[in-house]
Amino acid sequence: KNIIVAFGGVSPEHEVSVLSAMQAIASLEDTQYHIVPLYVTKSGRWLTGAPLLDLENYQDLDALINQATPCTFAHNDLGKPVLQETEKKSFFGSREQYPIHAVLPAFHGSEGENGAFQGACEMYNIPYAGSRVFASSLGMDKVKAKELCRAHGIPVVEGFDFDEAEWAKDQQAITSQAQQLGYPLIIKPVTLGSSIGVARADDEEDLIEAVETSFRFDNNLMVEKAVSPLMEINCSILGAPEDMQHSVCERPLGQEETLSFEDKYQSDGSRQKGMASADRIIPADISDELTDKIQSLSRKIFKTFRASGVARLDFLVNAETEDIYFNEINTIPGSFSFYLWEESGMNMRELMLKLIEIGLK
Ligand code: DAL
Ligand code: MG
Repeated sequence: KNIIVAFGGVSPEHEVSVLSAMQAIASLEDTQYHIVPLYVTKSGRWLTGAPLLDLENYQDLDALINQATPCTFAHNDLGKPVLQETEKKSFFGSREQYPIHAVLPAFHGSEGENGAFQGACEMYNIPYAGSRVFASSLGMDKVKAKELCRAHGIPVVEGFDFDEAEWAKDQQAITSQAQQLGYPLIIKPVTLGSSIGVARADDEEDLIEAVETSFRFDNNLMVEKAVSPLMEINCSILGAPEDMQHSVCERPLGQEETLSFEDKYQSDGSRQKGMASADRIIPADISDELTDKIQSLSRKIFKTFRASGVARLDFLVNAETEDIYFNEINTIPGSFSFYLWEESGMNMRELMLKLIEIGLK
């Protein structure tokens, strides 16, 4: 049974995706599944080939890309989906030998996590793990995700959003709206993850600087009231809305109040350990009562989004009042949140097998 592990992509979270995929591939060794890699380069080329499974050497990506074989989804003579070489470099020997049993998307951000890739799988009638198109795209838009939550009585932080054209046209209107909301404020790209382009502003000068920086990453930005004192708490849900499980909670620790991309992924040794590289407390050192609240809110949100597979729900908590605010849903969480499931009594292999099994239902 062939499982295509799909990773990389044009997203700025490309490197994080490579980490998640390598962890997934390692965990699926010696199972009933034969792993076929589908690596999407930063420019969007689809590649396959055994070299991409080489955990030790993937740091020399250019060399790997040269050895890898261009490929695409196709159907064989029997109408079954296959991953087909589009040039002869022969990883498969002959073409169409490996029908696709299922795809495990291990992308983070943009087209790999926003439903586009999931849609491609659906068009080819290929079973895949994780959330469907709807939850994937809704989860990617932080503003629309919050609007949905608000409509369902799930608390979110106050804020507003705007695009580059609006900023260019009337910066004054936006800065006064920010003033009204009240500093400190957090500025974020609407559709990115891994804390890319997220900044805190204590005054208007900071705001302008942060906005101009964040527009390098996204044409739509959101400004939110900072939660202070801030405690971030995350929880993972596994399953489908009709049958879900929650994990223990984690409390990620950042040097600053907002975890930066560097904190999360680029500290020493992070290439090996991935998501677990950032300092985090698991289970979170919070009261049972707060833990229960976050877990049940996580279940409610997972269901509200019609998510599937494994998702990580991120919350902002006021450390004094313990007020909880939904921050975002990650429909393909970094490292599939395995470190939360490990603490909940399920190892990564069991998690990945379960994820594939849910996708095949
Ligand atoms: N988007 C990253 C990978 C995460 O939050 O898990
Ligand atoms: Mg995220």
